[in-house]
Amino acid sequence: MSSAANGSGPAAGAGSAGAAGGPEMGTASPAAGESASLAVEELVAGYGEVVALDGVTVTAGAGGITAVLGANGAGKTTLLRAVSGMIKARRGRILLADHDVAGRSPEQIVRAGIAHVPEGQGVIPELTVEENLRIGMMSWRRGPRADRVAALEEEYARFKPLADRRRKLASTLSGGERQMLVIARALLARPRVLLLDEPSLGLAPRVMAQVMDLVVRLSRERGLTIVLVEQNARAALAIADHGVVLNLGRVVATADAASLAADVALRHHYLGF
Ligand SMILES: Nc1ncnc2c1ncn2[C@@H]1O[C@H](COP(=O)(O)OP(=O)(O)OP(=O)(O)O)[C@@H](O)[C@H]1O
Ligand SMILES: [Mg+2]
Repeated sequence: MSSAANGSGPAAGAGSAGAAGGPEMGTASPAAGESASLAVEELVAGYGEVVALDGVTVTAGAGGITAVLGANGAGKTTLLRAVSGMIKARRGRILLADHDVAGRSPEQIVRAGIAHVPEGQGVIPELTVEENLRIGMMSWRRGPRADRVAALEEEYARFKPLADRRRKLASTLSGGERQMLVIARALLARPRVLLLDEPSLGLAPRVMAQVMDLVVRLSRERGLTIVLVEQNARAALAIADHGVVLNLGRVVATADAASLAADVALRHHYLGF
């Protein structure tokens, strides 16, 4: 159900999407390390009669970590689903480096450079680790097989436990390893923006800390723009640059992470710490 699990991925090969006449056609994947901002403006989205997002504006700075916080049902997952094209925005704009991608299909959005790691992970348990990873490259344009092998090896180098288990069924992985697998799969789509929906959910505190460290490294070392949805607001704000708090489909606060973490009333009413 993730964009990655849907088999989308960008064109293989390097190049600047910005210079290639707009990111939406996936004429080229961005050069490694090239950052892009994501700006959601006045977004309205929902399910049938349910308006889950009612005019939400969020800006994720290029190469930074933006935390999206709020209680159950606030609209956090819906925001990521709308950005990744899994549900259609009814109104508003979704700007990836100034190109509006609202209304594009999930495949086009992945090619434009946005990868989504959904809530609940989306590992396919009956496939091997490597088969799961290959899904992340499914919509690469044709290219040398060696490029795919090299891309896989790059992720295996980053995620050693996955390298050791590449021929094992994904069902045999621990919770932390599954989280690594879905993040590695999303990275194989060569995104500029990574949407993470509650990556720490269900993980032991130590494993959760490792996932948070990984998120920081992806932003610092790879220049990825990260949108991090978390129930654990304290952990998210500890690593984020900026945060936005949603409640019942609306933005109730947006500020730098330190200011949000220091706001006692906000913590009490919306953040639970
Ligand atoms: N498939 C769906 N069909 C109908 N309504 C839905 C659907 N998914 C979510 N909703 C509703 O949309 C609103 C926002 O839900 P959403 O899943 O975006 O919240 P969330 O902030 O991610 O919550 P959580 O922290 O529990 O994951 C809620 O009122 C929810 O009941
Ligand atoms: Mg959710």
